[in-house]
Amino acid sequence: MSPPAFFAKTHSSVWSPNLFADKVVLCTGGAGTICSVQVAALIKLGANAAILGRRAAHTSEVASQLATLRPGARVLGISCDVRDASSLIAAAEQTVKELGRIDFLIAGAAGNFLASVEQLSTNAFKSVMDIDVLGSYNIVKACLPYLKWSKGRILFVSATLHYTGSPFQIHVSAAKAAVDALSRVLAVELGPLGITSNVVAPGPIAGTEGISRLATESYMEAVRKSTPLQRLGEAYNIADATIFLFSEAGSYVNGDIIVVDGGAWHRQGSLGEYPDVLLDGTVIEGVRGMKGKKGESKL
Ligand code: COA
Repeated sequence: MSPPAFFAKTHSSVWSPNLFADKVVLCTGGAGTICSVQVAALIKLGANAAILGRRAAHTSEVASQLATLRPGARVLGISCDVRDASSLIAAAEQTVKELGRIDFLIAGAAGNFLASVEQLSTNAFKSVMDIDVLGSYNIVKACLPYLKWSKGRILFVSATLHYTGSPFQIHVSAAKAAVDALSRVLAVELGPLGITSNVVAPGPIAGTEGISRLATESYMEAVRKSTPLQRLGEAYNIADATIFLFSEAGSYVNGDIIVVDGGAWHRQGSLGEYPDVLLDGTVIEGVRGMKGKKGESKL
């Protein structure tokens, strides 16, 4: 199997080859767009990896693709749900059994969809909180014994949308704010053990599942224009921040958030149809799972 074109550029050329030789990364949501590129970059720089995802076939396929990125690379694709703590404990055990250690944890599993507070059910809100917050907590607990041994590094993949009031993202905003809070506490509690905890906060990144749901031409043009650097980011930009934090260069960074968004959040606010869509009673278009099903609130 040859590596897909998607993994052609996973990081900048400034990093030393073999930077992460003999290191092991475990990544939840590792088959997703951003996380798979983060992991791909680490693999190219010498690491072995375990990626965890809910979709067994997809996770295993991406793991096979990642393994082609460096001769000798070992990549596990493990199917599990981050809401199930015992499945994460088993995944961490399997990783250590097969790959020997865990040096880096990327907590990237997340759920996201657009919905107004009126359209969102209590269960939908809870699903995102459970995946993002409980899932992040669960994977930290599962990896902690191994991170203590390796004096490892924890990285949460968060967002910037909760820095301001982002319409249709009440569930995700609450979840990402909590994820940022988890990281701060872990930085303080685990710092004395030699473990760092940080957050990377991607802005609008081209080609992600989240962006593809918003991808009307006019909306994307508005996003581009409202981003100070006048372009969307690419997944390798997030991988570069990850490499920095996991390398010696990032060894004294702890409890911090690195925003990688071209300056976008400083101009973040409502774009496009706001507030018309709230006032005229239309259901948001292009929301997966909503059509003919989610127009009415269950509250
Ligand atoms: N709009 C509104 N509600 C939605 C929704 C949407 N697009 N998609 C799911 N929901 C609701 C469901 O209807 C359900 O609520 P209900 O019981 O009141 O009907 C609740 O969310 C849980 O849905 P379920 O199908 O059981 O999914 P889940 O618990 O496995 O959660 C989600 C998964 C909801 C987060 C789903 O969007 C997902 O898996 N997405 C893929 C991952 C992703 O979004 N990645 C991008 C990260 S940025």
